[in-house]
Amino acid sequence: MKISPSLLSADFSRIADDIAMLDRAGADYMHLDIMDGRYVPNITWGPKIVGDLRKCTAKTFDAHLMIVEPEKYVEDFRKAGADIITFHLEATVHAQRLLAFVRSLGAKAGISLNPSTPVALLEDVIEDLDLLLIMSVNPGFGGQKYIANSLKKVREARALIDERNPQCELEIDGGIGRANIAEVVAAGVDVVVMGSSIFSAADPAAELGALRALAEPQPAVARA
Ligand code: DX5
Ligand code: ZN
Repeated sequence: MKISPSLLSADFSRIADDIAMLDRAGADYMHLDIMDGRYVPNITWGPKIVGDLRKCTAKTFDAHLMIVEPEKYVEDFRKAGADIITFHLEATVHAQRLLAFVRSLGAKAGISLNPSTPVALLEDVIEDLDLLLIMSVNPGFGGQKYIANSLKKVREARALIDERNPQCELEIDGGIGRANIAEVVAAGVDVVVMGSSIFSAADPAAELGALRALAEPQPAVARA
């Protein structure tokens, strides 16, 4: 199981410190939420900031594009240092072509599904994916309530991936924390995005470790 902390919940006046903290705390990826005020109501940042943040860490940049016409921008985000580029299936007409284009740039290609979009819509592109992101909230903001139907979608996605493309990573994003991390990982999630549950803790680094421990139960220790 990998943890991809969402920098959306970081304090941007001290973002380099927060990235260094997550780096030391053992984050696997850094999740970068790109929002354009059109695909989602919120606005975050563009390629310039991603390029600047690239200087702060060597960790995998997991870019989640919540923008219309993602095909116009994936090359800029790749040049800025994104390692995984995930766009929304609902935001583009030619998803298969865009997946191939992302891979041609040397990045891993991901598709994200909104809560209302069925996993079955990926049946004809599953082999073209390096990552499948199930949104467990409606995208746009951190700190929203987890949508319980996501568990069913995780199980469906896990089955599709296991059958057709076992290399593909399965990621979940939205409302994940102490109450549900174990359940979603047990259902087959490989990568867990978490923003508010990490950053709202008194000690975010310790919280990252505690969340990981909840999701990865230790085998019983033999007693003497
Ligand atoms: C929501 C973003 C998420 C967000 C998750 O649109 O895609 O990555 O930061 O935040 P939490 O973990 O607080 O739900
Ligand atoms: Zn996200």
